[in-house]
Amino acid sequence: MTRGRRLRKTESIRRMVRETRISPDQLIYPMFVTHGLDVKIEIPSMPGVYHFSVDTLCEEARDVAGLGIPAVLLFGLPARKDGVGSEAYAPDGIVQRAVRELKDCLPDLVIITDVCMCEYTSHGHCGIVHEGSVANDETLEYIARTALSHAEAGADIVAPSDMMDGRVLAIREALDENGYTETAIMAYSAKYASAFYGPFRDAADSTPQFGDRRSYQMDPANRVEAIKETSLDIEEGADMVMVKPALAYLDIISDVKTEFVVPVAAYNVSGEYSMLKAAAKNGWIDEQRAVMEILTSIRRAGADLILTYHAKDVAKWLQAW
Ligand code: PBG
Repeated sequence: MTRGRRLRKTESIRRMVRETRISPDQLIYPMFVTHGLDVKIEIPSMPGVYHFSVDTLCEEARDVAGLGIPAVLLFGLPARKDGVGSEAYAPDGIVQRAVRELKDCLPDLVIITDVCMCEYTSHGHCGIVHEGSVANDETLEYIARTALSHAEAGADIVAPSDMMDGRVLAIREALDENGYTETAIMAYSAKYASAFYGPFRDAADSTPQFGDRRSYQMDPANRVEAIKETSLDIEEGADMVMVKPALAYLDIISDVKTEFVVPVAAYNVSGEYSMLKAAAKNGWIDEQRAVMEILTSIRRAGADLILTYHAKDVAKWLQAW
């Protein structure tokens, strides 16, 4: 008789036939940087995730690197917001300063920067607003300028998350024209208009002040469209692509991985993190097992890389396994 249980008998056998593995090499740790000195403040909606100032960032990043995690993704909280998101592309803006500091203290850590305007604009939208709507083509110049300023500061990879049409090409051209031909682009290609960004908008103070993002982020009901968005980004020059969120979009991760040959990242977003943390805190779920199961499912679906707030915990647990 064929018996599946023979290969499940002991942990040693299970290890031998395990199809999906997680390594710290595949993890990217998102970090939030803010103005001020000696800041390390926990984000209420995201237990275990902090706002750091430029002077405290290095110590935390050293921990991350020490755990074998090769990359961080930076988000910035500006000192002031305005209609055109000036600090997003200011040479001495918060992210630009953070990148310089990190490159100085940890030259081998891969620095990825989120390229968007929503944290920097007074209206909280991801671009320039005219008459209540985000002006796509005008926004491209600002997005390209922001990406270029990150590259000038030393970012290895820029990651546009704004979902404007044509932004990857605009960024690639701006980088190449200025000699940054080696700076890579990780495009948030299939980024859905999701309720799971809730805790992040608290953390980044980026909630739109009117309306929502449904005129630029994708409709959660659409699957085929993810292929269209991703193929456009690759044509425009994306070196890596991303599906976001991850957990409610495993089918999309699988489709994108099957269809394209570039590395595929999946963003295990703030809401996915906070739900799990809340349940764990209440004793309703085993945090370690649940996190590992979720990240395994994201890898099994086809993600090469996972952006996750659990990255440090996972890297620690993997050391003990
Ligand atoms: C900025 C951006 C968002 C996230 C990453 N970049 C928020 C949004 O689109 O509203 C979400 C990350 C998370 O929820 O963890 N555009």
